[in-house]
Amino acid sequence: MTIPRLIDPFGREHHYLRISVTDRCNLRCVYCMPEEGMEFEPADHILTYEEIADVVRVIAEMGIRKVRLTGGEPLVRKELEKLVAMIAAIPGIEDIALTTNGIFLAPRAALLKEAGLTRVNISLDSLKPERFKMITRGGDVQKVLNSIDACAKAGLSPIKLNVVLMNGLNDDEIADFIEMTRERDIHVRFIEYMPIGHNDAQWKKLYLPLTRVKEVCEERQWKFSAVSSVQGSGPSENYRLEGAAGSFGLIHPVSEHFCQTCNRLRLTADGYIKPCLAWTEQFQVRSVIGDDEAIRQMFLEALGTKPENHEMSKFLKGDPDISHTPTSRRMSQIGG
Ligand code: 5AD
Ligand code: SF4
Repeated sequence: MTIPRLIDPFGREHHYLRISVTDRCNLRCVYCMPEEGMEFEPADHILTYEEIADVVRVIAEMGIRKVRLTGGEPLVRKELEKLVAMIAAIPGIEDIALTTNGIFLAPRAALLKEAGLTRVNISLDSLKPERFKMITRGGDVQKVLNSIDACAKAGLSPIKLNVVLMNGLNDDEIADFIEMTRERDIHVRFIEYMPIGHNDAQWKKLYLPLTRVKEVCEERQWKFSAVSSVQGSGPSENYRLEGAAGSFGLIHPVSEHFCQTCNRLRLTADGYIKPCLAWTEQFQVRSVIGDDEAIRQMFLEALGTKPENHEMSKFLKGDPDISHTPTSRRMSQIGG
């Protein structure tokens, strides 16, 4: 039997699965979750590690090579190292990354590396303690900074920092983040704030296109050049300041096309395949786990509905002419 590849109607082959292991989080970042009233999935809806590994095994045979664990906050799940080791043992999987808020990471970095984790992305939207606390609604920035050091020590590299840029909230720290890359081999990724699953008015107020990052470099007359070799950088456009140890990147899902080369699928913590971050389509794979052929068929069905584009730029203009229905899931229920 030849096993089908994961090719969508636009000819894009999929090699990358983002797995949300929980919809829960120890923080409440302003762009991700409301301060109160978030409802979480009951425990019996959440995929077990065995179930997740089973899905990965089946679709690794269909061409998935890279996995990223996300949340919510993945480290609120017990013994995540176990899942990492289970996935690392699956033939075909070459790369296992983690996206985390970094609060619980420092004491776990070496264990995760040992289990087979290859890289981490850490969310860090401000370097100022009070402001970090405000944006995350309670987080301690020092813990995140300690985690960055622990990852470097554990050999989890390249370390990437995710900075969601927000108008009037952290855009005055663009230069500070870029300065960090001079001495340290860190990749700072500025990300445009996306209108996923929530409050339109807040998004319109805080959204800032990433052209601002280049303006900041120009104002300072910094010399920088394009780099192409940041491992696993997906849709990011990457640069390095002259002489710097690290680099920085721009991810502009809203203002520029970034879907043409999309090679990613998503698996939610409650067991749904999501072919696109932005739209409502989802396929419940949880109920067919144990039946490999049914899992394969469901992935192919999901891919068949994958849109060409997320059309987020239309949201900014209030253009009602969109081709799909936007998702009502919050970012924490998808995993970014
Ligand atoms: N827009 C852009 N990025 C977001 N993230 C969470 N919510 C949003 C949003 N609305 C980021 C987090 C994390 C990654 C998974 O996605 O900062 O780094
Ligand atoms: Fe938690 Fe990450 Fe969402 Fe912040 S962005 S609330 S750290 S899941």
